[in-house]
Amino acid sequence: MKILILNGPNLNLLGVREPGIYGSMSFEEYVPKLKSMFPDIELEYFQSNIEGVMIDKIQEVGFSYDGIVLNAGAYTHTSVALHDCIRAVKTPVIEVHISNVHTRETFRHHSMISAACKGVICGFGLDSYRLAISALANG
Ligand code: DQA
Repeated sequence: MKILILNGPNLNLLGVREPGIYGSMSFEEYVPKLKSMFPDIELEYFQSNIEGVMIDKIQEVGFSYDGIVLNAGAYTHTSVALHDCIRAVKTPVIEVHISNVHTRETFRHHSMISAACKGVICGFGLDSYRLAISALANG
């Protein structure tokens, strides 16, 4: 089983960025932990701050991989292009957020991509990614 974890804008700053909200661990530190939790799954990690690069990546893997775990960062709340891209590919996409966006500013309450995704997990810190991978692994 092959799964892509795709992080969007500003998530390269995890560990440094607003640690009270996003925690103090970098994603580079977290990926090996995640891999050790799922030894039978091939996990690939990719991050971009650029919407079009994220779309290229989803198109690249979206007809062959078994799942995509997508934290689209702020593009979650704005991107019709990501919505269309998720709908265009065959691979199921799970939307994740580290924070519980529903307890935060109202502009974070609406997601442009949820309706195109298989499911949504938010508010569990970095554990949101593990939960999403488990969901994909369990079909
Ligand atoms: C986020 C929530 C978004 O609203 C925000 O723009 C992010 C991170 C999260 O993981 O909690 O960049 O997706």
